[in-house]
Amino acid sequence: MIIAVDGPTASGKGTIARALAAHYGLAYLDTGLLYRAVGRQVALAGGDPDNVADARAAVDFAEELLEDTILRTEEVGGLASRVSVHPEVRAGLLDRQRAFAAQEGGAVLDGRDIGTVIAPDADVKLYITASVQARARRRWLEMVDKALDGEEEIPLAEIEKDIAARDARDIGRTDAPLRAAPDALVIDTTSFDRDQAFEVVLEAVEASLAERKG
Ligand code: DC
Repeated sequence: MIIAVDGPTASGKGTIARALAAHYGLAYLDTGLLYRAVGRQVALAGGDPDNVADARAAVDFAEELLEDTILRTEEVGGLASRVSVHPEVRAGLLDRQRAFAAQEGGAVLDGRDIGTVIAPDADVKLYITASVQARARRRWLEMVDKALDGEEEIPLAEIEKDIAARDARDIGRTDAPLRAAPDALVIDTTSFDRDQAFEVVLEAVEASLAERKG
């Protein structure tokens, strides 16, 4: 079984995808982390994330980089969004994601283009979204909570602005833009807490699986 989970930044898709993987005993891949590693690698090499050659070269990042908690910061998220615009970067990360999806035993992948490009034949496709305000607030609370790598606390209004800019870039790019697959189950988590969101998602997934079987 392959479950594709897409959606904008801080929509709760990562938490939901991880919980689904645990629930069904499936492997899990956070594909955003791959783009974050590329963005970070560009910065480490002193390159420019908007430059195709610099971004393409960074696709060959060291695997240990995936463990670095700095990848979770807003700053690296912004770099990831910038490198992910280049088709050469997307192509460079494609096989790895497809191979993960195709593994025996099944998988859950979360990202922006899982249901549309990486695993268009996924058994279940989810598109998790929430208002910009709700997402900014969650990101801010998370930041305060974890104080990531001494990351400076960013005012809520600034996070909101960053999230809106990231949405615009992810939705507006020509190659594999962020959008719900036509057959995705769209779930808006604005008014849900974590547990409620998972409950609603699980119900939708179960209903969809039953329908496919039926
Ligand atoms: O999910 P995230 O916030 O960690 O993703 C960071 C950036 O990486 C996101 O703004 C766009 C890019 N990305 C992508 O283009 N395709 C994916 N499947 C996952 C992430």
